Amino acid sequence: MSQTPSRSDLGALRGARVVLGVTGGIASYKAVEIARLLGKAGARVQALMTEAAQRFVGPATFAAVTHRSVPTDVFDSPELVVHVRLARDTDVIVVAPATANVIAKMAHGIADDLLTNVLLNATVPLIVAPAMHTEMWEHPATQENVRTLRERGAIIVDPEEGELAGGDEGVGRLAEPVLIVEAVAEALARGHDLAGVRVIVTAGGTQEPIDPVRYISNRSSGKMGFALAREAANRGAAVTLVTAPTALPVPDRVDVVHVRTAQEMRDAVVARFDEADVVVKAAAVADFKAKTVAGGKIKKANAPSAIELEPTIDIAAELGAMKKDQILVGFAAETDDHAAAARKKLATKNLDLIVLNDVRATDAGFEVDTNRVVILGADGTAEEVPLQLKSGIAQVIWDRVSNALKARNER
Ligand code: PMT
Repeated sequence: MSQTPSRSDLGALRGARVVLGVTGGIASYKAVEIARLLGKAGARVQALMTEAAQRFVGPATFAAVTHRSVPTDVFDSPELVVHVRLARDTDVIVVAPATANVIAKMAHGIADDLLTNVLLNATVPLIVAPAMHTEMWEHPATQENVRTLRERGAIIVDPEEGELAGGDEGVGRLAEPVLIVEAVAEALARGHDLAGVRVIVTAGGTQEPIDPVRYISNRSSGKMGFALAREAANRGAAVTLVTAPTALPVPDRVDVVHVRTAQEMRDAVVARFDEADVVVKAAAVADFKAKTVAGGKIKKANAPSAIELEPTIDIAAELGAMKKDQILVGFAAETDDHAAAARKKLATKNLDLIVLNDVRATDAGFEVDTNRVVILGADGTAEEVPLQLKSGIAQVIWDRVSNALKARNER
């Protein structure tokens, strides 16, 4: 029996252009139902099939359901550069079912057929619904590839437990079509919610020099800030990422300003503050710097017995004092008495939200790919966000900011 998603969830699909990538697995036939549900909700669906998918279901079936022919080869009309056109003329891409093979190609940028060429050209939100045997799903290579996609902002609709091809049972069955369609609608709704919003994100640990070769810094890798910048760009914001040195690749569609010290970070942010709607301060700004910086490398023989320190400028507090109607989000890196300390920072720095993370945990805070936070609001709210990849935490933070922007615009 086919299911119908609740209408209220699916408004974003009306008139939306959706590429439905179908890859080769027994669940390919369920993609016909996904195409039908998307069409019923008002989406214009363009199905694309891998060669393997066509062994399970014919392109004619999708053409009939979507009322659109199904191109199957990059070389069908090379003069039309069909893979580039398809990638540009869509609002969202959903790959369902996604085999382990195609997930691996996506993770590694391999483009050897029409669908994977479109995927490599596209910059729109991506939803991936894996389906495969349990062993393939649980294989470290597949898990690593899925993680890579998640970190890049793809939404993964996890496979379910149940009966698999050949009568086996386990995790790997394609999620229900209705859930996949709802994920597409949600991504579309979210995909545009920051369009026109000007955002500054800070990331990384500032470096405060002692002499030309040594500095005081901290363990921040920049991962949290970069995930925030990537997510905001995916949702249509104009993003400036002001970052201290990191080893991370620069995210797409983000304007990056490289800084080293707290003072340089302050200057870069303050110079852009009037133009910004939102500032998210994920950087771990060094709280102290050397009072005097040696002009030459301090020789071992002249090692000072102490380095005199002085406080750096508090950027968040300065922005809090300057702010007009910008939304200001800080982070609180705490090891003790978490909530009370974070609430104090929220108030003294005049922030709208503060994201509290326990930097003593081994699976959260500095360096690791995951985080677990509590988002505290100036209005007294507290939302616990469970352990997940920093990309997921970034999504929740932007959901909160997006709501705050809506509330501000309605005032
Ligand atoms: O980079 P990762 O390895 O992914 O790690 C992420 C993170 C742990 C660095 C991040 O999640 C985080 O908690 N960032 C804030 C770290 C910090 O400096 O917290 P704080 O409690 O010391 O500062 C509170 C707020 O004031 C922060 O928003 C900070 O950016 C800001 N601040 C602090 C000092 C200062 N001189 N100027 C500031 O603007």
